[in-house]
Amino acid sequence: MRIDIITVHPELLESPFQHSIMKRAQEKGLLEVHIQDLRRFGLGRHLQVDDYQYGGGAGMVMMVEPLANCIEGLLQERHYDEVIYMTPDGQRLEQPLANRLSMKENLLIISGHYKGIDERIREHFVTMEVSIGDYVLSGGELPAAVLVDAIGRLLPGVLGDETSALFDSFQDGLLSPPVYTRPEDFHGWKVPDVLLGGNFKKIEEWRHEQALKRTRERRPGLLEDE
Ligand code: ADE
Repeated sequence: MRIDIITVHPELLESPFQHSIMKRAQEKGLLEVHIQDLRRFGLGRHLQVDDYQYGGGAGMVMMVEPLANCIEGLLQERHYDEVIYMTPDGQRLEQPLANRLSMKENLLIISGHYKGIDERIREHFVTMEVSIGDYVLSGGELPAAVLVDAIGRLLPGVLGDETSALFDSFQDGLLSPPVYTRPEDFHGWKVPDVLLGGNFKKIEEWRHEQALKRTRERRPGLLEDE
């Protein structure tokens, strides 16, 4: 899968994909992340990418022309399955959306800044708008990194244990059960006996009970949705 991210702050997106699982995904050739610096398409001597909004009001708006030129250049090179704009008024990112997007070939993500992007980009290029939650961040870079991580880890072969993403919280509509590792006893805080017993059927039953309990206590709405 190939993901392009358009940004005016490429440095904000350098680190998230250079470590851990996203790094491994790229080294294995399963994921390509290309950061597109919008400034290269800026106008005039100052490579301007934003301007005051028509009608007045505080805050700058990202201009249509640099964005259109950047997007059109990319569209000439390949087809994108979705052109996604990260915005608080978009569709909320939840696991099923990450699952669906992980099956695409090429994604183009636009991370906005300032007051947002000129509406004509949304009308003419954007096919999907995604929010990572009901709060406002100072730009779309962190949301874009969240989206790419949520998608990238689902690509077949990215996680060491092929099945482990299937057992994530939310994949079966339940939160994950508690997990433990060594030592068995830390300051008298003990690992539940069932996990030490080696009876896999019992362990599975316990995990399912714990997942249900946790979901009932913390996110009862997930159970009602069924
Ligand atoms: N840009 C600013 N805040 C955002 C959010 N919550 N989700 C997606 N993009 C954003």
